[in-house]
Amino acid sequence: MPPAVETLALVKRFGSHIALADASFQVEAGEFLTLLGPSGCGKTTLLRLIAGLDRPDAGRIRLAGQDVTDQPAYRRPVHTVFQSYALFPHLNAYDNIAFGLTRQRRSPAVIRQRVEAMLALVGLEGERWRYPHELSGGQQQRVALARALACEPPVLLLDEPLAALDPRLRQRMQRELKSLQHQLGTTFIFVTHDQTEALTLSDRIAVLHNGRIVQTGPPQKLHAEPETAFVASFIGNCNLLKGEARSRQSEMATVVIAGRLAPALWRQDGAAAGQPVVIAVRPEGVQLESASGDNASGLTGRIVERLYVGADTRWTVRLPDGQTLVAALRHEPSRAWEIGALVQVSWQPAAAVIVTPDEVGDETESAADAEREELLGQGRQLE
Ligand SMILES: Nc1ncnc2c1ncn2[C@@H]1O[C@H](COP(=O)(O)OP(=O)(O)O)[C@@H](O)[C@H]1O
Ligand SMILES: [Mg+2]
Repeated sequence: MPPAVETLALVKRFGSHIALADASFQVEAGEFLTLLGPSGCGKTTLLRLIAGLDRPDAGRIRLAGQDVTDQPAYRRPVHTVFQSYALFPHLNAYDNIAFGLTRQRRSPAVIRQRVEAMLALVGLEGERWRYPHELSGGQQQRVALARALACEPPVLLLDEPLAALDPRLRQRMQRELKSLQHQLGTTFIFVTHDQTEALTLSDRIAVLHNGRIVQTGPPQKLHAEPETAFVASFIGNCNLLKGEARSRQSEMATVVIAGRLAPALWRQDGAAAGQPVVIAVRPEGVQLESASGDNASGLTGRIVERLYVGADTRWTVRLPDGQTLVAALRHEPSRAWEIGALVQVSWQPAAAVIVTPDEVGDETESAADAEREELLGQGRQLE
């Protein structure tokens, strides 16, 4: 069977700005694929090209094997659900859901049966006569979903459909969305900037950065085996440390960080020892122990910051060469260091991965900084 959606080297420019560069990916029929990336990376642009709401400057789009690049939106077998729901304010829930079917000139009996089924599916049988302004945000979003699903599109495009909902409702809608997709077997392309949402829902995730798809894979794989510094910091909130590769035996490498040896995984083929590398280290994978002058043989550092986040404490440690890293540890009385305390820093080899530095600037750092700022804010509130 051909892929449900396939894009081939799509390019989209707005003036001199390249919103999408060489975007190629495939989605299998029935798959839940998420486009994940920070604001402005090109997610909506990519979705609009697939829907036919915009035309690419280069590249092709195929739906179920058919080239649709030159077809207008209304002839493409896809439906789009936008963040803003876009319900018709003068139609009640029932008529909103029936809208597409009426336009397709389905028989009244078919329309009635299909709308009833959709109302039941999204749990809004009791709200069918209500108008959008009489519905909560979550209910409106369910009407929008039901309206899109009623026409049984083979492909549903969802652009941050849950972004406007409060966290609890959002979690419930995530579960409902996933089970709806499972029941109906519809192909979903779901857009979000929220890594947790992407990890929870997706069969596969395509990570976008500056208009490029930088890595595609199942959630566990992206989390465990990030290929670029950006993916490592965006998906795993990894620490990014500069070091030098010392030696390598197949996938196991020894790196030098701040003059000390540490282990890391190295998956890229052809990479050789002796070169500068970026190592992504998971905060949950970092171990800290009190160090004194005599046991401090490995990597050591000094505590510079302590943040309480839920059940964890996030300790920021400055290494002798000035680089800092964060360790997330469970609360324990034996791990209550003062600011300035000397600690031994270590990790299991699987907690550290050598990644490709990003071509463009230090946005990864600013993303990590922004997250740290946010955590700092939360930490202050808790203290
Ligand atoms: N109609 C437009 N005109 C000019 N620039 C645009 C337009 N649409 C999007 N862009 C720019 O293209 C980039 C990608 O935008 P978008 O696809 O909306 O990002 P995302 O959905 O990932 O937040 C952004 O820099 C944005 O400012
Ligand atoms: Mg967008």
